[in-house]
Order: sequence, then C-alpha cells, then structure tokens
Amino acid sequence: MQISGVTKVRLRSLLRSRASRGILRRNPVLSSQVMRLARTLSGERSNTGWSNQARYCYAVWLRHLVMAERYGLNTDPRVIVELGPGDALGIGLCGMLCGADALYALDAFPYATIDHTLAVLDGLTALLRRRATIPSAHEYPEVEPALGSTDFPSSILTDHRLDRALDVERQRKLRAAITAGMDGSDHGGVSVRYQAPWQDASIVNEGAADIVISQAVMEHVRDLESSYAAMARWLAPKGHLSHQIDFRSHDTSPDLNGQWIYPEPVWRQLENEKVYRWINRQPCSTHLALVERNGLQPVATVRVESSDGIRRKHVSSQWRHLSDSDLNCRGALILATRA
Ligand SMILES: C[S@@+](CC[C@H](N)C(=O)[O-])C[C@H]1O[C@@H](n2cnc3c(N)ncnc32)[C@H](O)[C@@H]1O
Repeated sequence: MQISGVTKVRLRSLLRSRASRGILRRNPVLSSQVMRLARTLSGERSNTGWSNQARYCYAVWLRHLVMAERYGLNTDPRVIVELGPGDALGIGLCGMLCGADALYALDAFPYATIDHTLAVLDGLTALLRRRATIPSAHEYPEVEPALGSTDFPSSILTDHRLDRALDVERQRKLRAAITAGMDGSDHGGVSVRYQAPWQDASIVNEGAADIVISQAVMEHVRDLESSYAAMARWLAPKGHLSHQIDFRSHDTSPDLNGQWIYPEPVWRQLENEKVYRWINRQPCSTHLALVERNGLQPVATVRVESSDGIRRKHVSSQWRHLSDSDLNCRGALILATRA
C-alpha cells in the first residue's frame, strides 16, 4: 500500500515528535515494528541516492578535493578508486574530468548503468567548463562535509589543468571508455572499470591508487575488516583514503542515532530488505581503528555531532562500550594516508 506525499510528511513528523521518540527509545521491539510499518507505508526510494545527478556528483567530488587541499593531501590523483558509486559513476568521473587517467568504481551491487553514467558525464563537463560554484548544503542538505565557501576551487583546478583535462579528444576517449562497457580497457591512456559486485582485492594493483574515495558507503559495507585491508593494499605511497561516512540510523529509528537501541535479535528482524540500505552499525572509532590496524596514518577526522538523539541509558547492552563521541557522531569525513 502506498500513501500520499502529505501523509508521508505527517507520518514522519509524528514519528519524530518528542513524545513518540521517547516511547520508542524505551521499547526496542515496538520501535522495530513501528519502523518496519513506516517503511512499508512510505515506500522507500529504489535508487541509491543522487549519484545519477551531475550536480550532486560535482558537489561531492569537489568537497573531497577541497578537504584534501585543506589537509595537505594530493589534489591531482592519477588513479582513483571509488567504493559504492551507486546509480552512476559520476563522483569518480568528476575526478577523471579533473585530470585522472584511471577510475576503478567498485560496488557491492550493479546499480549503475552506462546511460546514466553518460548523462552525468555530460552534466559534469558543462559544470566544470563554466567553473560552476559548488552546490551548497541548501541544495543538498544531506551532503557532507560542510565547506566554508562554495566558490569554485580555482587554485586547485587551474585553467591550465582543466584545459588539458577537458580537451575534446580526451573527452572522446573517456566517453569511449564508458560506452565500451566500463570494462577497464585502455582508450588512449584513459580507462574506466566498473565492477559490481567486487570481492577480489586484486582487481586493483597493489600500490596503484592515489585516492580511495567513498560517499555514504562505509556504513553499508558488510566486511569492514577485509575492505580496509584491501584499501591499504591499493594505496600508493602518499595516496590517501577519503571516506565520508553517514552514521545516522537510516530509518531504522526516528532518532538519528537510534540504531544502537536494538539488541542483535531485534536488529536482525528490522534488517532493511533494500540491500543498499543495510547498515553495519559500526561507529566512527571502529573505522579509525581499522585504518590504523592496516598501517595507515589518520590525517583528519571531520565530525558532525548532534546531541539530539538517544542517550547512553537507551543503548542496548551490546553497544554500551560506545564513547559519547561515537554515540553523538552523525557523520564524519575520515582522511588517512599511506605514509
Ligand atoms: C547510499 S548508497 C551511496 C551511493 C553514492 N556513493 C552516493 O553518494 O549517492 C551506498 C552504496 O554503497 C554500496 N556498497 C555497499 N557495500 C559495499 C561494498 N562492500 N563495496 C562497495 N560498495 C558497497 C551500495 O551498493 C550502494 O551503491
């Protein structure tokens, strides 16, 4: 059964009211049933986000680029690995349009299509050609990290760099790499490889990647241990990870951090059947620990915190070890480098 847009908004604000959040926080079983019902009634979106919109991909890639500059990391990568591109390869392709030679786009599920990817490529090219300002949080309220300025980063993307990168012949090669099936074949020094699902870390050569980037992906990864080990293996010396992770509850609770109220058996019943929406519930500190355990050096963790959520007393016993900082962390950009 589907319900109208107005009813959806009413339902959402009713669920998020202080009174219902108070009741649901204290009753995980009830909360899981209510959230399942709410999801069924509101009909979840079937796409993965906004990566089939050029403006979104532009907003994301330029955010990662600006943050790389802020923390003294490489802003001119030759080889990009993007985890979880979603509906189109736009985020990594924006990096290709800024001058990179190779893109590996690895997803757990094959959401992206050649048609969407070509459409996003055209949109991105137009945005870069006119040095468009970075779409703001007003246009994409969910996109982190926040930037102080939305000006086009012309000190990074100089005219000299973009003239070369957006050269018509180079564009033709990039287009050919996509229409050929995104199979990694070489098109005059340009290649795009889309692998979904991916399992084998040898898909990217050891020490080949200048950047491994993801946006709203690492919270969905099932095997974090082997994924971080793969990323550490792929990074070139001085290469870096740039992961924007969304630690919110993804509609498993009306509270932003309500995923941690559920004991494991209840959580399993609440498991989101839309595969890309499943979350691993691992907090920011787990990601940082895995970065270090794999020999990488954390450079910065840019957190957004919110205290408007569940409190320690609502946390299920399995998650009692969470620090306050983890509990209140709504999202974080993790930058780490291979020293
Ligand atoms: C919320 S979507 C984000 C898509 C896109 N990055 C964006 O910003 O719109 C999460 C994506 O992560 C992908 N994903 C989940 N587990 C993954 C894994 N182990 N490796 C690569 N991608 C994964 C999902 O299939 C999905 O495409």
